Amino acid sequence: MENFENNVVLITGGGTGIGKATASAFIAKGAKVVITGRRQSVLEETTQELGAQAHFVAGDVSKKGEPARIIEETIRKFGRLDVLVNNAGTGNMGPLSEISDEEIEGIYRTNVFAPLALIREATPHLANSKGAIINISSVAARGIMPGVVAYASSKAAVDHATRLLAAELGLIGIRVNAVAPGLTDTDITTDVKSNEEMLGMIIAQTPMGRLGEPKDIANAVLLLSDSRAGWITGQSVQAGGGFLL
Ligand SMILES: NC(=O)c1ccc[n+]([C@@H]2O[C@H](COP(=O)([O-])OP(=O)(O)OC[C@H]3O[C@@H](n4cnc5c(N)ncnc54)[C@H](OP(=O)(O)O)[C@@H]3O)[C@@H](O)[C@H]2O)c1
Repeated sequence: MENFENNVVLITGGGTGIGKATASAFIAKGAKVVITGRRQSVLEETTQELGAQAHFVAGDVSKKGEPARIIEETIRKFGRLDVLVNNAGTGNMGPLSEISDEEIEGIYRTNVFAPLALIREATPHLANSKGAIINISSVAARGIMPGVVAYASSKAAVDHATRLLAAELGLIGIRVNAVAPGLTDTDITTDVKSNEEMLGMIIAQTPMGRLGEPKDIANAVLLLSDSRAGWITGQSVQAGGGFLL
């Protein structure tokens, strides 16, 4: 895979799971990486693990003004931005009848509003670098699964925004793609993983026959960020071992 030396990559939610594995994969290819999240202690620990090429900015991306501050701090620290990975995400399982207005709003603020605001604020910098945006979607955006309506519909919005923004930003040289993970072994999937029946069913429906690892998703993010993917834009690529073909 391409060398990302001299590239600066911003990964929201980079302190844990898929974001952390993505930060580690970019650093291994020479990039400088900024990770964000709400928990300062988690970010401190991960940054220490990732080493000198990593920097963190603590903040809640769902709060107005925070996306702008995160982009500003990234530019202040490293002077440029080449890849924006909109990875921070949240979601509750449960039927709509059990989800409050506040929960729906929280899911949409984090999963939809924040990526749009981050992309808007990052656009001048990504235009300068002819950079790339990778939005982390989900196979749930396309599947018809019970009990995930707020989360799955927010990720469907991410997929469609990916297409719309590819059209809008292609004119200034920015590519916009999404990676849609299948079930992956991270904190967000603790509930599913502890439900043996559900876990068994999902693995049985996965042609590759296992749960995804964060590095599986990180590899897909790097593939789409690579300049050799320079003619690929507006796509949502599933990385789920063939779940939901
Ligand atoms: N794991 C899967 O099976 C799977 C499948 C499909 C899609 N995805 C997507 O993959 C992405 C990464 O999730 P993951 O699986 O790696 O789980 P994770 O380890 O729980 O990662 C989520 C990250 O987002 C951060 N975050 C959440 N809300 C935030 C907010 N308001 N502001 C700033 N940061 C916030 C969290 O940090 P703080 O809590 O410290 O803020 C955390 O680091 C998410 O978008 C998720 O929807 C995951």
